[in-house]
Amino acid sequence: MDAGLGVVTARARILVLASGEGTNLQALIDACADEGYGATVVAVGTDRDDIGALDRAIHHGIPTFTLKMRDFASRGDWDQALARRCEAYEPDLVVCAGFMKLLGKAFLGAYGGRCLNTHPALLPSFPGMHGVRDALEYGVKVAGCTVFLVDEGTDTGPVLAQAAVEVRDDDDEATLHERIKVAERKLLVGTVGRMAREGWTLQTPRKVRIGNR
Ligand code: GRF
Repeated sequence: MDAGLGVVTARARILVLASGEGTNLQALIDACADEGYGATVVAVGTDRDDIGALDRAIHHGIPTFTLKMRDFASRGDWDQALARRCEAYEPDLVVCAGFMKLLGKAFLGAYGGRCLNTHPALLPSFPGMHGVRDALEYGVKVAGCTVFLVDEGTDTGPVLAQAAVEVRDDDDEATLHERIKVAERKLLVGTVGRMAREGWTLQTPRKVRIGNR
């Protein structure tokens, strides 16, 4: 990565952080199989064992590591250890793909501006752990997903891309989340690929522009 924000000069090295099934991770791995995509997944980090994301990474021969918060004296210690662990893989981009932990000062000190996350709601509506449930309970007719740059808040960073998804009358949290995840994988893959190939600029504290560097 060049000194300027968001300029990747070779095939971008992506480190993925995950906590769950790993379908977003899988979509990224599949996209990276195409040379023209411009990126490669160099490692997968998790905060728990026995999850689909780890199985998927191992199946594809991608190095993995797990750092559980409970093994550290404080959240700050965990955050620092996570930053150090990631450093070994020299990532250009860190992608939180269903990673259920907030990142702190040490981590964002190292990766702020090049760490992105995906959320299954149209931010700034419905941030937090239960975005899909909250949107459904509110009664929205359009739901969706947001890919954004991570800051220290909960789903508050500058938006990179969004996609809308219809809410159907008979939806429950599971059916709506499943429909959102289809759109989310496409959005994440498209956004990461464009960032890897075209770079990005933070034009104001809230506005990011991908491309046209
Ligand atoms: C995604 O919808 C993500 O936005 C949310 O959890 C889901 C993770 O899915 N936080 P997966 O583990 O990538 O399949």
